[in-house]
Amino acid sequence: MSESENELIKTATDARLRSVAPFSKFLVGAALRTKDGKVFTGCNVESASYGLTVCAERVAIWKALSEGERDFTDLVIVADTEQLTPPCGTCRQIIWEFAKHAKIVLANLRGQKEEVDIGHLLPKAFDARFLKEASR
Ligand code: THU
Repeated sequence: MSESENELIKTATDARLRSVAPFSKFLVGAALRTKDGKVFTGCNVESASYGLTVCAERVAIWKALSEGERDFTDLVIVADTEQLTPPCGTCRQIIWEFAKHAKIVLANLRGQKEEVDIGHLLPKAFDARFLKEASR
């Protein structure tokens, strides 16, 4: 049985508490559902180098891809902000490449949620189509 949207938000909210964010103290959780109903969670993991920090969304996507999953239906991102936290630019690129067809829902701890469209968040995205064209 697949999780409902609210269950997926709860799963991402729980994952958020596993964030390793000693520098920013900004905790983010993600939950990524596959077409078969499997759920992969992620939380942000910060490096002392700062630049090697990985966002919650990417952790969830890397976990799922590395387990062989390729088709995703839903991605939920949870942070504790009044204005719902959108994915950063790097994550937008990765979502575009690997979870383009997933319904993306941003949520906070106050019960607010909003669906966003990756095509709107990242217009004119670069992807493998351009590499194929250039190699012709
Ligand atoms: N962060 C995420 O995990 N996801 C987002 O969508 C925005 C930012 C993390 C990265 C870093 O650990 C902290 O939030 C502050 O930027």
